[in-house]
Amino acid sequence: MDIINTKEMSKDDIVAVLDRAAEIEPSDALDGDVLALLFFEPSTRTRMSFDTAMKRLGGDTVDMGSVESSSVKKGETLADTVRVVEGYADAIVLRHPREGAARLAAEFVDVPVINAGDGAGHHPTQTLLDLYTVRDNVAAALGDLHVGIMGDLKYGRTVHSLAFALAKFGARITFVSPPSLRVPENVRTELGRAGIEFKEVDGVDDVIDTLDVLYATRIQKERFPDEKEYEKVAGEYRVTPETLETARDDLVLMHPLPRVDEIAPDVDETRHAKYFEQAHNGVPVRMAVLDMVM
Ligand code: CP
Repeated sequence: MDIINTKEMSKDDIVAVLDRAAEIEPSDALDGDVLALLFFEPSTRTRMSFDTAMKRLGGDTVDMGSVESSSVKKGETLADTVRVVEGYADAIVLRHPREGAARLAAEFVDVPVINAGDGAGHHPTQTLLDLYTVRDNVAAALGDLHVGIMGDLKYGRTVHSLAFALAKFGARITFVSPPSLRVPENVRTELGRAGIEFKEVDGVDDVIDTLDVLYATRIQKERFPDEKEYEKVAGEYRVTPETLETARDDLVLMHPLPRVDEIAPDVDETRHAKYFEQAHNGVPVRMAVLDMVM
């Protein structure tokens, strides 16, 4: 079984991962198995939490390392790389700057491929840990939520995966971004098709008092074709203690991290800040994913 995007996971599949993550303990379930970590883009959380998850299940990992130190530098194609790595490992975790890379890789190998982020496309295991964090912190059922998703909604793969998953649960979504960084047309179309109520606004101030969850994201400089366009919107969407003054007491503030300046450091001590807990949830959730996929 591959995990490429949340669109192709059913609501039951998602709930099964979250339930498994809630009960999973360190074990030797994957003793003798090897997980390949292929990261063609930088990562701290995803790479390290998959590594930890695999080891907590008694398995081992083999890491390609940086692109610069691999044979990608000599011009090897992704298809050839994964066909070789299939002979070294029982599953592949792949992060790649090109949208569709995980799907392509999965076509060339028989071992499971887990998409750890493909360009501006999807990041399904991030969404699973996001939903796990929401379920742990918000009293409402996932379907009764009003979620604000703020920042770079155009290039943010975590946003796309999260929106598709929230749609399956019937959550209400408010997208908060500058006009130039609205969610892509294909995401909008899918949400419409799923009958999801969503709106798009330029600023969070008018909706913050109605939100159960505010999901802030980084404006992704590296994905802008023109740096001048990035400069126009950089730093515009920043959560400060003042932003949260009219928020509900139980508002949960999340961020996939890394942050640059989207959340002021003095927000970290507020009851709303759940982003470090969110990052830590990557381990049990990815243990559950590996346990189920491998
Ligand atoms: N949230 C996330 O994907 O973080 P990394 O880029 O550090 O893996």
